[in-house]
Amino acid sequence: MFSMKIIFIFGLALTVVSAGIRGGIKELSGDDLKEAEETLNNSLTKLASGDGPNYKLGKIIKATRQVVSGSKYVYDVELIEDSSTKICNVVIWSQPWLENGIEVTFNCPDGQVVKKHSA
Ligand SMILES: *[C@@H]1O[C@H](CO)[C@@H](O)[C@H](O)[C@H]1NC(C)=O
Repeated sequence: MFSMKIIFIFGLALTVVSAGIRGGIKELSGDDLKEAEETLNNSLTKLASGDGPNYKLGKIIKATRQVVSGSKYVYDVELIEDSSTKICNVVIWSQPWLENGIEVTFNCPDGQVVKKHSA
């Protein structure tokens, strides 16, 4: 009876911990934010040299990362197109082991655009 309870509590703790690692959304700062910025710049460069859109990063207002199957980055950013700036929400879902495994979703005031590119 006693050991059943221990096993139950242990199992519960393990579930909570692994849910935290897998599903946790982490707001990024420091080196993590820098890495997220490089990930975003890499996507913007790849898309601009492919079929667009042609954006440059203005600044990151906020960035989070979630470990799913791969990494999911969510950014609130200023994007620069030609010389105008707009604020968009950008999601980068990165599964670099897949062909065209980087999916970028731009949610901007003028609508949503979804693009994929290789790592
Ligand atoms: C990302 O791109 C912007 C605009 O081109 C640049 O100012 C910034 O330094 C770049 N950031 C990194 C980490 O390369």
